[in-house]
Amino acid sequence: NTVLVLNGPNLGRLGSREPDVYGADTYEDLVTLCRETGRHLDLHVEVRHTNDEAELIGWVHQAADERLPIVLNPAAFTHYSYALRDALAQRTAPLIEVHISNPAAREEFRHNSVVAGVATGTIAGFGLMSYVLALQAVAELIAEKSK
Ligand code: DQA
Repeated sequence: NTVLVLNGPNLGRLGSREPDVYGADTYEDLVTLCRETGRHLDLHVEVRHTNDEAELIGWVHQAADERLPIVLNPAAFTHYSYALRDALAQRTAPLIEVHISNPAAREEFRHNSVVAGVATGTIAGFGLMSYVLALQAVAELIAEKSK
């Protein structure tokens, strides 16, 4: 059971990026956390990061073709990328939108997600634990399906 954990722009700078908002843990810490969570849940977790919209969309197409679930932090693309939304609408497996911060409690421009409407569900505001909760949700959905 492979799951892609995809991260959008600026998330590679976790740890040094606005630590008051996103915490002190680094992107490498996030990768380790997701892999370890996967091991507990019996999921093969592949974690990727890009600042590039085209590259992210390419990975979403790959997931659609291979029927892979996605845990996605679209970062700022959340709020304006219709191209990403259209790619995600082609999904063939669960899609969990995650955010480290709680965008609803922040600036007005973060209140709308163009991705949320094509996601299975959204988890936001729990720091890096948002990813752990999302991977648990994926594991539950896979277990449900194989019943
Ligand atoms: C974010 C929230 C977005 O508004 C922001 O652009 C990010 C990170 C989060 O994880 O809290 O880059 O997706």
